Amino acid sequence: MGKTLLVCLVILLASASTILGRELLAQPTCPPPGFSSAKPFDLTSYISAPWYVQKQVTTTYTPENFLYCVRANYIPIAGPGDLSKGVYVNNYSNKDRVNGLAATTSKAQGGFQLYATVPDDAVPSQLQVGPYLGDNGVTTAVSSASAKMSGEAANYWVVATDSSSADPKFEGYEWAIITTGPPTIPSGNGCRTGSADGGIADVAQRGFWWFTRKQVATAETLEALRAKSLELGLDLGVLQDVQQAGCDYSGAP
Ligand SMILES: *[C@@H]1O[C@H](CO)[C@@H](O)[C@H](O)[C@H]1NC(C)=O
Repeated sequence: MGKTLLVCLVILLASASTILGRELLAQPTCPPPGFSSAKPFDLTSYISAPWYVQKQVTTTYTPENFLYCVRANYIPIAGPGDLSKGVYVNNYSNKDRVNGLAATTSKAQGGFQLYATVPDDAVPSQLQVGPYLGDNGVTTAVSSASAKMSGEAANYWVVATDSSSADPKFEGYEWAIITTGPPTIPSGNGCRTGSADGGIADVAQRGFWWFTRKQVATAETLEALRAKSLELGLDLGVLQDVQQAGCDYSGAP
């Protein structure tokens, strides 16, 4: 083979693979192959303390001016340690500023009570969150309780945690990544949750949160959350910062 021909071939191959590479980057496969939720997963440990949100995508209930002091606290409905009836979901956030007007999903505090259940006991990291129908509506086991949820129920997947409950030295979770199920929409830098139309349904269905046990996360923890999110194929471009410094949670549910 002539030297010129060889050079031409090499250039051709190189440009072909670059184009292919760009094509793959522009159109990631969504959800990423193998995308699932955390396994094994210890729900009792997960809900044992409040979670502080460090970053999230804005949602119907948490628009940009509510990205202050966002926290989630999960309380077993049947009593401490008993997950058979699901858990109350007590979301909390402040409007416009740190310690501003409080919004909450705790009924006891005038909110619209939400709760979460596990539809399949074999996969405790895949929960559903929906409106709580009252004690009479939720008197059976977790799986049938979830069947009673209205169409408004949303997926709540814990897709990654810092440690594994299978580890003999497991002492609980320090951080977690939550999504509203598999991210199905290619968005240039990865995959995102929601619906492709970009409208109201999109805002209602999207969800991606970085949770930490510490109110103000360390740089190290944030870096671990970033690295893991990238590894999972999630588009980090949708995330916005939540202010946590100075938040007073003393009255929060
Ligand atoms: C409450 O927060 C959870 C995530 O922690 C989310 O799935 C849910 O949509 C939120 N709901 C409201 C009403 O804030």
